[in-house]
Amino acid sequence: MKTTLEIMRASPVIPVIAIDKFEHAVPLARALVAGGIRVLEITLRTEHGLPAIRAIAESVPDAIVGVGTLTSPEEFTASRDAGAVFGVSPGLTPALIEAAKRSGLPLLPGVMTPSEVMAAREAGFRQLKLFPAVPAGGVGMLNGIAGPLADVSFCPTGGITQETAPQFLACKNVVCVGGSWLTPKAAIEAGDWDKITEIAKAASALKKV
Ligand code: 3PG
Repeated sequence: MKTTLEIMRASPVIPVIAIDKFEHAVPLARALVAGGIRVLEITLRTEHGLPAIRAIAESVPDAIVGVGTLTSPEEFTASRDAGAVFGVSPGLTPALIEAAKRSGLPLLPGVMTPSEVMAAREAGFRQLKLFPAVPAGGVGMLNGIAGPLADVSFCPTGGITQETAPQFLACKNVVCVGGSWLTPKAAIEAGDWDKITEIAKAASALKKV
């Protein structure tokens, strides 16, 4: 099993994906992987989240599929059993800490303030999702906490684009970024998988510097 840090290092960008129609899941995953984006966060925001994780885990072997928008303890084992190899949550609660430990699913928990970073660190998490990154203060916030809280690293997510990603990736405490820009709904609805691959190629060319 990969650690959270290994998963973050496997891709400069983690697409945050909501599956509106189950039949989109596998072609979408294939299109992203074809563009060099292998780490996929499939959120539980739609009813198709878990079935999509299962289908991708079974039929897209090059994908590293994780579960996103984890908000309840029961979702950890269900996601792991569906084939998720990592999890992402928008925040962190005592129940989620416990569920992450019990399930063994590597978790990237969301934080937004220095106190939340410290609480997550006390619970044993060193890799965190800054969420929502831009409203939280973006690059200024990341640089501001890099000094006092130097032993944690981030996947900022929320409000980041292909154009702004490089300034986040230039922060010393950022390993990768997350975002939904890789999966525009119009392209998915139109089945324009070449378009998704093209966007993924641009994203996978971004570098952690
Ligand atoms: C997330 O769930 O992490 C965010 O909704 C992704 O944010 P974005 O849509 O602004 O990229």
